[in-house]
Amino acid sequence: MDVAMTLELPKWFDLHTHFRQGPAMPAYIQAHLDMGCAGALAMPNTKPPVSRVSGENREDSWTIESYAADLREAGADAFEQLIVPLYLTRETTPEMIVEGAESGLLRAAKYYPPHGTTNAEHGAPMADFLGSDVFRAMEENGIVLCIHGEQHGLGGADYLASNRNAESLFYRDLMPRLLEQHPKLKIVCEHITTKEAAYFVKHASNQVGATITPQHLLYTIGDLIQGLKYHLYCLPIVKFDDDRDALREVAIETGQTKYFAGTDSAPHTVKATDCGCAAGCFTGGCAPQLYAMGFEESGVDLASSAGLSTFERFLSLNGPAFYGFEPSAERFQLEKEISETPILNTQAGPVTPLPLGMNLPLTWRLA
Ligand code: NCD
Ligand code: ZN
Repeated sequence: MDVAMTLELPKWFDLHTHFRQGPAMPAYIQAHLDMGCAGALAMPNTKPPVSRVSGENREDSWTIESYAADLREAGADAFEQLIVPLYLTRETTPEMIVEGAESGLLRAAKYYPPHGTTNAEHGAPMADFLGSDVFRAMEENGIVLCIHGEQHGLGGADYLASNRNAESLFYRDLMPRLLEQHPKLKIVCEHITTKEAAYFVKHASNQVGATITPQHLLYTIGDLIQGLKYHLYCLPIVKFDDDRDALREVAIETGQTKYFAGTDSAPHTVKATDCGCAAGCFTGGCAPQLYAMGFEESGVDLASSAGLSTFERFLSLNGPAFYGFEPSAERFQLEKEISETPILNTQAGPVTPLPLGMNLPLTWRLA
């Protein structure tokens, strides 16, 4: 009898995910725990946003302190690490940064391009933060800046064309200015999708890292458009084959330390609406399987020790090293076998995982 190939890896960290709020949180967190995830950076784009550090929630803003407590109560206390970044708004002050750093509650802060993605309406333009006391305070206190790197306010062909898009423009115009004005800032370029972003990070200092999602390693815009597979609709949108090639190239480079897992798993109980589509792919329960598929499609032989160690760096080691915590001492296994991740039923309604939504099987399963 054939014995399926088994990969054993240290448990991994999802350094960009969405656990939302309300009664579905335990289901989302459990889906992460079930897929060998040892910790997460839980995004602050709740309603209202997590835009203050400590104290009680208010109607217009939540705090890291209370949102992290909610997450722990919903199951995140089982994680080895839980990071909640501060949502940067026009109301963010340098004092919040300094006090947050001193209290230990603040480890990262998130830039959202105004109106650029789900619940991004509280963001302020990047140009307003350049040279600001908020960014200076982050620089001086070692607070990581998580960036959703898209130029906001663009439409039509400026937003997405064959030779430019909202992300490539952001990396061409704004990122060089950011590094010039804040050379000590530690930056994660989140969910990168373009060759411009991939190579920008590669050529920047070691203070600049990036997360790559499974969907951007695996798919291009053709996969989204053919049959209008709206479960693949997320922001930044999946791009073209040369962009995907660049992501694959940097992710699988031997010994690379800058690129790591951050799924951007973003559950929506309603995706398609009468006049559009909610942005966000849900990969709870299936992310390591999808990443393994992405590495294989990039040409990595996961059965070889060199291939496995490249995958391990990306999935389980680089993220902790970048954020400054220990990798997990616990392990989990993947088996080479066709599998399916079912619909996740939550108290807020059912959520369709990406591969099921695309009617594609997983070629790996959790052991
Ligand atoms: C995210 C969401 O649904 O919260 N959506 C997405 O398309 N990625 C927001 C985000 O991280 O951009
Ligand atoms: Zn996200």
